Amino acid sequence: MILTGQKEQLFTADIRQKLDEWVAKYPSGQSQSAVIPSLHILQAENEGWLSEDVMDALAVYLAMPKISVYEVATFYTMFDLKPVGKHKVNVCTNISCQLNGSEEVVKHLEKCLDVKLGETTADGNVTLREVECLGACCGAPMMQVNRDYHEHLTTEKIDTILAGIKS
Ligand code: FES
Repeated sequence: MILTGQKEQLFTADIRQKLDEWVAKYPSGQSQSAVIPSLHILQAENEGWLSEDVMDALAVYLAMPKISVYEVATFYTMFDLKPVGKHKVNVCTNISCQLNGSEEVVKHLEKCLDVKLGETTADGNVTLREVECLGACCGAPMMQVNRDYHEHLTTEKIDTILAGIKS
């Protein structure tokens, strides 16, 4: 739980401390500059996703309009706005990856995980998603598993990676 339910102290003390460390890195009165690292902190502490309540509380905490928090959270695929699995598998299907076999990568992942893009496995372990270019085009085809990049994917490599997150 990261929200306290109290109007004056929206986040738990532990969360406030983490947010304040980032706010302190910017000039006074510029707390909104900490919005991206703050969203990362809140997402990590909230089972991998950002609810509206959490984003609203952050807007109040950083003294910025709610819409500005939503703009950031909805722009980046690294932020999830609905519940996700324990592990996030993001497959790039942009041009370099597409030209190097991302279609096969997606097919293989869908088969192994028994889900379609955008879905979470029945056991709640993995959410499979399609994302735009992740800036690792020279390693195409690639995917991101949680925070790690995996490049030059083959079906064998994918099997090994999936075995790692299933265990
Ligand atoms: S196109 Fe896939 S990482 Fe750039």
